[in-house]
Amino acid sequence: MSFSGRVEHLIQELNEAKASTKEDVERFRIKFLGSKGVFKDLFSEFKQVSSDEKRQFGKQLNELKARAEGQFSSWSKEFSEGLVANEAHDLTRPGMTVAPGAHHPISIIKDEIIDIFHAIGFSVAEGPEIEDDWHNFSALNFPPEHPARDMQDTFFIKDPNGGQDYVLRTHTSSVQVRTMENEKPPIRIIAPGRVFRNEAVSARSHCIFHQIEGLYIDKGVTFADMKQTLEYFAKAFFGKSKIRLRPSYFPFTEPSAEMDVYWGLENELDHRITKGTGWLEVMGCGMVDPAVLASCGIDPEVYSGFAFGMGLERSAMQRFQIPDIRMIFENDVRFLSQFQSAI
Ligand code: DAH
Repeated sequence: MSFSGRVEHLIQELNEAKASTKEDVERFRIKFLGSKGVFKDLFSEFKQVSSDEKRQFGKQLNELKARAEGQFSSWSKEFSEGLVANEAHDLTRPGMTVAPGAHHPISIIKDEIIDIFHAIGFSVAEGPEIEDDWHNFSALNFPPEHPARDMQDTFFIKDPNGGQDYVLRTHTSSVQVRTMENEKPPIRIIAPGRVFRNEAVSARSHCIFHQIEGLYIDKGVTFADMKQTLEYFAKAFFGKSKIRLRPSYFPFTEPSAEMDVYWGLENELDHRITKGTGWLEVMGCGMVDPAVLASCGIDPEVYSGFAFGMGLERSAMQRFQIPDIRMIFENDVRFLSQFQSAI
């Protein structure tokens, strides 16, 4: 065989070499590195090859030898360590690292808000994402054909058998209705969840997002109670104590308001997130409309209450400086692993 053929053969043998016992490792050593081993042979033959071939193979041969020696020493270490622990497991070897999971940014915000309301007696309520017209609209004082329904672009689900149509809930306010139908006051709940709107997807808006709804019903609940509760929330969540309530309209609350938090205008970022006003829009809120209480079987002559609803994506994007809402839904681990670890 030519010298180059022998080198080829050697490379192939090294590639295929395996060891599963200590004896295999010893055989490997004798075959390649021993005093009558392959390398000894090749190096003595090397002396006789032409100077052209010397140039061609010299470096390669040294590298192959170093590789065989490296392989041998790593196997010897592996197998001798194995022997210490009775050829079973070596309990002294470093463990394999398992990357810890991380919380999703939306979960971090959601859990924080749940904790804040939990501390003042609110518990978590849930409802279905596929909702009927009654719970998403009619019970909330959106009569059929009422223009207020156009405030929310809705995904409809047609029943192929001609039964009632369903919708993907457009807001978590549907959970208010379900809770009031099933529970007696006093009611103090927050309802976090996913909602859906038939809107074009862009860096700023998505057809899927998350909201948290709040509802408090009891005897003698007033607008002042609402204001106090929202002030407490603003302080706990944003660390800001100045809020304002701007008149607004929702079919299910009367009066209705938008709550803004005074964020400040100290730097470039403040200007950007408050659009130069210093005020940050946080949520919609209001006193539950008596017609809604009545629809849900609660006597509006006896009870009153307030409700509020806020989106989570905006807060998450602000808190974590996420530039594009779509990142929240892509589940790219390079993005997700940057957030607070789960353990
Ligand atoms: N459901 C409203 C929305 O999605 C948010 C909202 C406003 C909820 C006022 C409320 C409320 O409970 O009182 O736009």
